[in-house]
Amino acid sequence: MYGLRMSSYIIKKIRSEDKVHFESALFILNEILGENLYSEKSLQRNADEQDVLLLGCIIEDKLVAAAMSGILKKSAFGLYAPFGKDAMELLNRYRIGVLRNSAVKSDFRGRGIGAALLSERLQWLTNLNCEYSVGLTWLHGKTIQSDSLYKSAGFQQIGQVVPEFFKSLSEDTGMHCPYCGYPCRCSAVMYAKKN
Ligand SMILES: CC(C)(COP(=O)(O)OP(=O)(O)OC[C@H]1O[C@@H](n2cnc3c(N)ncnc32)[C@H](O)[C@@H]1OP(=O)(O)O)[C@@H](O)C(=O)NCCC(=O)NCCS
Repeated sequence: MYGLRMSSYIIKKIRSEDKVHFESALFILNEILGENLYSEKSLQRNADEQDVLLLGCIIEDKLVAAAMSGILKKSAFGLYAPFGKDAMELLNRYRIGVLRNSAVKSDFRGRGIGAALLSERLQWLTNLNCEYSVGLTWLHGKTIQSDSLYKSAGFQQIGQVVPEFFKSLSEDTGMHCPYCGYPCRCSAVMYAKKN
């Protein structure tokens, strides 16, 4: 369906009542994207919210990847300010869907799971009448990053690369970057695509 380079997989929405998969999603997100990124409570708030989607990819009953998306709220616009005028114009003019937190377990990367999760989330955002989808690529320089995923799906870069983009988030949440430590000093780039 998504050109996934493996035989059998399920992509499904994960809610907190699905305890086994929810706990696995919490573990995967914190292990791959940064220790302390989510507490059980904060992920639960997201997973059970109407306008947030927590997706998991399941292979042989085990969760091997998790990814989120949601409708961008005005209160979150400030996060994108470092990407400049074009970014802010886009957010102010259109209804925006956000792609967040893509994490595939290392043994399962490069087989199309990230692309499948992206495709499913784009469809969900389109169904919610989002006119544009935006996503950030975390430039850790290690393993596979999400930039190639966005480019393959037709996304365009908005603004310039922002150095140390995650530093204040890392300091506020105590999030440790698996690649550069604490606080995170990785750069980020913003991508957008019309739905
Ligand atoms: C980024 C990530 C979510 C992508 O998921 P994935 O399942 O590995 O990605 P896919 O297999 O769908 O591949 C997507 C694209 O990555 C690129 N890619 C695949 N294998 C690659 C490799 N070994 N090295 C570099 N790029 C590669 C390809 O361009 C591929 O597109 P293609 O269909 O044209 O080949 C996943 O690798 C990951 O969890 N990385 C670490 C955490 C991270 O950076 N998350 C993103 C936060 S912004």
